[in-house]
Amino acid sequence: MSSDWFTASAPGKFVVLGEHSVVYGKPAVVLATDRRITCSVRRSRRTTLNGESVDLRRQPHFNYLTRGMNYSLDFLTASEVPSGSGMGSSAALSAALALAIHSERGECPTERAIVEEAYGAELYAQGNGSPMDASACVHGGGIAINIPDEPSELWTISRGERTWRVTDIEVPDLSFVIGNTGIKAPTGPQVEKIRRFKQKNGFAGEIIEEMGNVTLEGYQALKRNDKERLGRLMTQDHKLLSILGVSCNELNKLVNASLPYSYGAKLTGSGGGGCMVALTDDPDKVAKIIEARGGTPFIIKSGSEGVRMETGIAKGTPLDIPINRG
Ligand code: MEV
Repeated sequence: MSSDWFTASAPGKFVVLGEHSVVYGKPAVVLATDRRITCSVRRSRRTTLNGESVDLRRQPHFNYLTRGMNYSLDFLTASEVPSGSGMGSSAALSAALALAIHSERGECPTERAIVEEAYGAELYAQGNGSPMDASACVHGGGIAINIPDEPSELWTISRGERTWRVTDIEVPDLSFVIGNTGIKAPTGPQVEKIRRFKQKNGFAGEIIEEMGNVTLEGYQALKRNDKERLGRLMTQDHKLLSILGVSCNELNKLVNASLPYSYGAKLTGSGGGGCMVALTDDPDKVAKIIEARGGTPFIIKSGSEGVRMETGIAKGTPLDIPINRG
């Protein structure tokens, strides 16, 4: 019987421009993908995750999102999003889990409330960061952050001295191919690497400033559907991210191999491994090239729906969930 389960799903995402610099309040452009994470919850006598007993204190997302709860739940997860690879698995998990838990309590939270919870879970799990991933996985479609004079504001989230103003964008009719290096690289250490670099060296601040300019120009190019310009800016952003130290040989290999058949290519997400993305008119060719260079390609459909309730229960490959071993 699946009637006592409450199931929600949320899309993964990829960053077109602006990862890392967004942590410092610079602009970013992100699209939701057609790969989703699904979570089911139901009341139970003891806590289980995918059929096994778990200690929630070692599962940061679950631990955060069930804080203050005085009863146990069974959790099921199913994921089409590779974990630890820059495709938003952590934010999609948080968003789907938050909505499933709320609906189990008979509540119907706003998108903004889910973003705040998902962002809280992300910070709890990884330390530092922006609400970009949480916003993209909750809202779906496409979002832009901190674009001056952009009217359609969804929400503004502040933390310390930083503010992120999130707006909805029209999903562009463009083809993107993702290449997964297969190297898992959690976000927290990459964000921390740049924080330390920036603290020691003013040059890192200049690079971040430049990434902000590149992203703003890329946002305008995206709105004009100017693929040539957008692609060049993506490649430029990749070079700036590489200078900050968050690329790696495997990512560079896939980016360079894609470039002859693409408008541009870059790492996407936090880097250090994980995925790259290419903007191209020939996705099959780019996918083949990525595969030939040892990556796993997937041709992405962008702009999928955000977090939503589902009927039935989570079925498929369970998410490889990060465990807090501390
Ligand atoms: C990871 O998808 C995005 C980063 O910019 C971190 C963040 O914004 O929290 C690297």
